[in-house]
Amino acid sequence: MLAGKMEYMGDATWWDERFRSRENALMSPEAKLKLDLKYFAESNKILDLASGDGRNAIYLAKIGYEVYAVDFSTEALNRLKSFATSERLEIAIKLMDITSKDEVSKLGVKVDAVIVNHYRMAREIYPMLITWINDGGILWVNGFEDVPEDNPNIREQDILRDSDFELLKHCTLLDKEKYEVGDRKFVRYVWKK
Ligand SMILES: C[S@@+](CC[C@H](N)C(=O)[O-])C[C@H]1O[C@@H](n2cnc3c(N)ncnc32)[C@H](O)[C@@H]1O
Repeated sequence: MLAGKMEYMGDATWWDERFRSRENALMSPEAKLKLDLKYFAESNKILDLASGDGRNAIYLAKIGYEVYAVDFSTEALNRLKSFATSERLEIAIKLMDITSKDEVSKLGVKVDAVIVNHYRMAREIYPMLITWINDGGILWVNGFEDVPEDNPNIREQDILRDSDFELLKHCTLLDKEKYEVGDRKFVRYVWKK
């Protein structure tokens, strides 16, 4: 692996290009999130970190949550805004590089739950992230558990590991589930503050 800044698949320019080349339609929400709604029964306000163009943010807003979406791709957030507008939904957005402790510390939100879907957060960010969650709130993280053979963009450094959560103090792991979709292996963690 090359030394340097850890990136999830690519930098903001790479992601902008990826979102720009997508057709003008929103992908279906994450199936695992839909199955996990019981964990958000007590939540009102949910923060979607590395939201992309909003398939999960929009789904959650549609079913009544107040949603805050953060991503570092301008193109992704522009698409999210336009999908939200056409659905008559209000979603607060913030353009931010979530590898930067400095930027992340300035987010200043208080939510009942945070979701991170298909993005690997740097472990040092978790202690800060957890301060934005109200007591009793939920941290939901879902992603690759192994490098898939059919997606060359996902590398070893993008795989979720138990050690990612080592700096997460005073939280309880409610559930960890490994699962497969076709040949792809995933893992989903649910933490309670
Ligand atoms: C695989 S996509 C997942 C998007 C969304 N969570 C979903 O489930 O569809 C990864 C997302 O992470 C964002 N991302 C990657 N690195 C980031 C960073 N350093 N800061 C903020 N967002 C980042 C990308 O722009 C992209 O939208």
